[in-house]
Amino acid sequence: MRTVYVNGIFCPENQAVVSVFDRGFLFADGVYEVTSVLGGRLIDFSGHMARLRRSLDELSMAAPAGEDELLSIHRQLVDKNGLDEGMIYLQVTRGSADRDFLYPPEDTPASLVLFTQAANLRARPQVQTGIRVVTVPDLRWQRRDIKTVQLLYPSMAKMEAKRRGADDAWLVEDEVITEGTSNNAYIVTADGKLITRPLSHSILHGITRTAILRLAAEHGVPVEERPFTVEEAKQSREAFVTSASTFVMPVVQIDEAVIGEGSPGPIARKLRTIYLEEAERTAI
Ligand code: PDD
Repeated sequence: MRTVYVNGIFCPENQAVVSVFDRGFLFADGVYEVTSVLGGRLIDFSGHMARLRRSLDELSMAAPAGEDELLSIHRQLVDKNGLDEGMIYLQVTRGSADRDFLYPPEDTPASLVLFTQAANLRARPQVQTGIRVVTVPDLRWQRRDIKTVQLLYPSMAKMEAKRRGADDAWLVEDEVITEGTSNNAYIVTADGKLITRPLSHSILHGITRTAILRLAAEHGVPVEERPFTVEEAKQSREAFVTSASTFVMPVVQIDEAVIGEGSPGPIARKLRTIYLEEAERTAI
């Protein structure tokens, strides 16, 4: 059984308690982060903490703890669970209060929950085969840059992908791809340019995305940040997604269209290798 952290206490997962009046439960009034662990060390921790701060600020929520304390909680969870490879989820909500649409008084303590999830991140079988995605309308709210716990639509979209025999969905708005259900989306054009849409309120500002765009530029892959249409994606030479839990994952089919040779492309494979090398070297 896992040891989890809940509001100052480390305890077995079946003894962890959150109030029924928690605003995360009643209003999805909370934000989260997912940090990967490789070899018992945290990947890009400061990036995830910077985005957490931003999510909290955008929602006028107080930070539940300082960054040093959050780092210490992450490390204790790795130790207590003997976690070698996997993810740590950090969930913060505006706390518990009588049910009211208005925010509770500012001195209401935030709720803070962290838990681990072991996973073979490096050796996912899909890295070899690539994944298939289907396109679905992007029906999420208009502040996707805030990493809130309102994940119902991404869940619905993943279920729709599964129903259609695919692995994941790419979300479409005004004929262009916004991003994947839980990852950022990229294509490579016939002339070898890496395309991904620019940052805005329409997508989550992926921590992996920042690293990948920097590494691509450093390794001579030309990058263009612009929106791309579903049609352009279907005719692309390569496609892939990035996230903390998948790193770089090749996409080999979009709806009925097979991408490139139907197997992971060279740029996706190269970026995955380079990303993993750097991630492990800089993990803390
Ligand atoms: N998802 N876009 C969306 C909608 C996401 O949920 C995520 C992350 C990303 C990639 O961000 P990053 O590179 O910082 O992980 C993009 C996490 C992994 C999740 O919910 O499981």
